[in-house]
Amino acid sequence: MADLTTTFAGIKSPNPFWLASAPPTDKAYNVIRAYQAGWGGVVWKTLGEAGPPVVNVNGPRYGALHGADRRVIGFNNIELITDRPLELNLQEIKQVKRDWKDRALVVSLMVPCEEEAWKAILKQVEETEADGVELNFGCPHGMSERGMGSAVGQVPDYVEMVTRWCKQHSRMPVIVKLTPNISDIRAPARAAKRGGADAVSLINTINSIIGVDLDAMTIAPSTDGKGTHGGYCGPAVKPIAMNMVAEIARDAETRGIPISGIGGVTTWRDAAEFMTLGAGNVQVCTAAMVYGFRIVEEMITGLSEWMDGKGHTSTADFIGGAIPNVTDWQYLNLDYAVKARIDQDKCISCGRCHIACEDTSHQAITAMVDGKRRFEVIDEECVGCNLCASVCPVEDCITMEPITGLDPRTGREVGRSYSNWTTHPNNPNRKAAE
Ligand SMILES: Cc1cc2nc3c(=O)[nH]c(=O)nc-3n(C[C@H](O)[C@H](O)[C@H](O)COP(=O)(O)O)c2cc1C
Ligand code: SF4
Ligand code: SF4
Repeated sequence: MADLTTTFAGIKSPNPFWLASAPPTDKAYNVIRAYQAGWGGVVWKTLGEAGPPVVNVNGPRYGALHGADRRVIGFNNIELITDRPLELNLQEIKQVKRDWKDRALVVSLMVPCEEEAWKAILKQVEETEADGVELNFGCPHGMSERGMGSAVGQVPDYVEMVTRWCKQHSRMPVIVKLTPNISDIRAPARAAKRGGADAVSLINTINSIIGVDLDAMTIAPSTDGKGTHGGYCGPAVKPIAMNMVAEIARDAETRGIPISGIGGVTTWRDAAEFMTLGAGNVQVCTAAMVYGFRIVEEMITGLSEWMDGKGHTSTADFIGGAIPNVTDWQYLNLDYAVKARIDQDKCISCGRCHIACEDTSHQAITAMVDGKRRFEVIDEECVGCNLCASVCPVEDCITMEPITGLDPRTGREVGRSYSNWTTHPNNPNRKAAE
């Protein structure tokens, strides 16, 4: 059986599945049950500085975007960092780490942007013998208005400065958790690296309004008739998170820095995708909140079986495996062409491919052939865009097949060579052919 153990930023865990800092890791009771279920590690719910804890709203703090089958596709929250006393959290962390030595226990932190505040809390966390700290530079609501969370994560100079303080004042590995509420994720990642970060983790939640009550004219979740933007997460954010992970993994300045992939991970496959894009492990929040801790069982067996099938003996065998195939648009092969192919045995004649292509693409799918309802691709018109396959309700009914020779649509030779936009005759900035 494949070996799922991972060492992330020097922190060992029996598998790459960690719970992200959030309600599932808010207290010893939850964390112990999570470990019992099989989670390899947790990042404890973010701690703030000593003194009166933060206060949450006393009403709805979550909102959900549902799919047609009521499955939660996206999730939104206006929760703050832990509202339990610092001392209580620290005592529990110490005890849990003592009892569960083989599991990773990282503590998430967020204190004001002052060196003394960071120094003080780092010392307290170090005494718990936790495995490391994660700096929460990502929380986009409530704390950011107080100059913390994403207010720090959006300013690379602050990211670098605070990371440097943490490295100076602690022996523990420092993971910097990044906010996606920024135009170029590479800037704060580079800053974290300059500051000496041992790893980065991403993404935290995305600024969002999850819905509007059209009768009450309020936004959700509403507190006494008023609402505020929340942080968006869950399956809907996975593509955004994966792109950001890949950007950091292939950037010349940050390449090689350990990355913890977060955002919409629900199954082993999600985790494997993040890992092939450069994540050394993954963190999960929404899926655990929606389905409970036992989802990790499927993650462990699924990843393990997939690895066995592929002949991977350790996670290192496939971490970053897809990165060499991530490139910029300008390097895509313009001599490569595909055509849609419809498997008539699988087709249920619903007509969705026809109407999608007819109304919004290239009028390349018939609706009638010889007076009968039949859906066939017209190669002379098909640009291979994949819209029909995307909307077809039957899996693998429409596939995209590469062609070689003359493309009946363009009359151009395709499929035998490689050329890209940088040398294309239509590109006014093309490089002179050698
Ligand atoms: C209710 C809730 C509370 C959260 N609290 C924190 C927090 O205290 N600290 C933190 O770093 N991230 C927090 N997060 C963000 C998650 O750790 C995670 O980055 C995000 O939800 C994306 O992962 P997911 O799609 O698996 O939920 C919270 C998320 C949710 C839904
Ligand atoms: S791939 Fe695009 S152009 Fe071709 S048939 Fe499908 S929708 Fe039409
Ligand atoms: S969308 Fe799929 S199932 Fe429906 S007509 Fe087209 S090929 Fe057939």
